[in-house]
Amino acid sequence: MRISLDEAAARLKSGEVVAMPTETVYGLAADATNDAALQQIFTIKQRPADHPLIVHIGDMRQVDDWAAVFPDVAVKLAQTFWPGALTLVLPARNHVSQVVRGNEPTIALRVPNHPVALALLKLSGLSVAAPSANLFTQLSPTTAEHVEAGLGAAMPVLDGGACQVGIESTIVSVSADGQWQLLRPGMISEADIARVTGSPQHAQLAGTDRILTQPALNVPKAPGQHALHYSPRTPLSLFKDKAALIHESETIVQAGLQCAALLIGAGDKPNCTVIQLQNQPAQVAEQLYSALHTLDALKVDRLLVELPPDTPAWAAVLDRLSRAGG
Ligand code: TXA
Ligand code: MG
Repeated sequence: MRISLDEAAARLKSGEVVAMPTETVYGLAADATNDAALQQIFTIKQRPADHPLIVHIGDMRQVDDWAAVFPDVAVKLAQTFWPGALTLVLPARNHVSQVVRGNEPTIALRVPNHPVALALLKLSGLSVAAPSANLFTQLSPTTAEHVEAGLGAAMPVLDGGACQVGIESTIVSVSADGQWQLLRPGMISEADIARVTGSPQHAQLAGTDRILTQPALNVPKAPGQHALHYSPRTPLSLFKDKAALIHESETIVQAGLQCAALLIGAGDKPNCTVIQLQNQPAQVAEQLYSALHTLDALKVDRLLVELPPDTPAWAAVLDRLSRAGG
């Protein structure tokens, strides 16, 4: 159900949940200071309670309302990338709700770069917690239609058009002493972060996989960063090689089954429904979830996806595809 900006602000102020656009993906928003409203996010998403939420603020000056410290390194990152697709995880102030931070000692903050999101924050006068507006483990939404398809037609959605970045923000954790760590890759790259901070990622903590598989004491976790994430319902297979993908499609068709394919760049195509994206990281990111939603809706037996090259420019797209592929 589409709602106006005024109605979205009114609903947020009265403790309700609404879906809002951001430049990355649509978010399921609630007043970040209202625990009952926050609980509804977890209920609607069917998301475990220990998964912390990102708080969306309208202005960098609001960081101090949430974070106990705002280290120089984090200030530089905020000045460079906000409003934008960067989430900063900082030590939380004591009063910050345990619900919004999933019992973590830290809080995740972001100023979104979307005029409608910024207008909503301003009009409501609130900071809003917003995870992606999809069911836990399902594909993230990049249009109002995706939100309604995933969460039901009754979900109030503030329509801000198709998301321009298309995949979730880069998440960087910054400790009180200014050490930083990439918790989730995004279109703002690790190299972009290192250039601005003037330092490499904290060596001992580096590598998301290590954090995921071996959570150790004092190591900031990236809850929700497990393998089963961002999946379409149709079984999906990933291919480094176009020829292997085409060969697999022939095997599937010969077995009397149906498949569809997502290809990156021009070249040969399999004999099935194909979405072909331009061989350019920002464009693939923008259209990735939309393409997967479209292919998923075909209800074929298998989705075949061509992987981009394993280079830093493609890191975020590769991350999302490898999660979708399991
Ligand atoms: O682009 C985005 O970030 C989108 C839009 C709506 O802003 N939001 C989003 O939220 O992707 P979500 O909930 O799907 O992913 C947020 C992730 C969590 O899964 C968790 O890994 C990380 O942010 N996170 C949040 N708070 C954290 C904290 N205190 N420490 C470590 N990781 C945290
Ligand atoms: Mg999500």
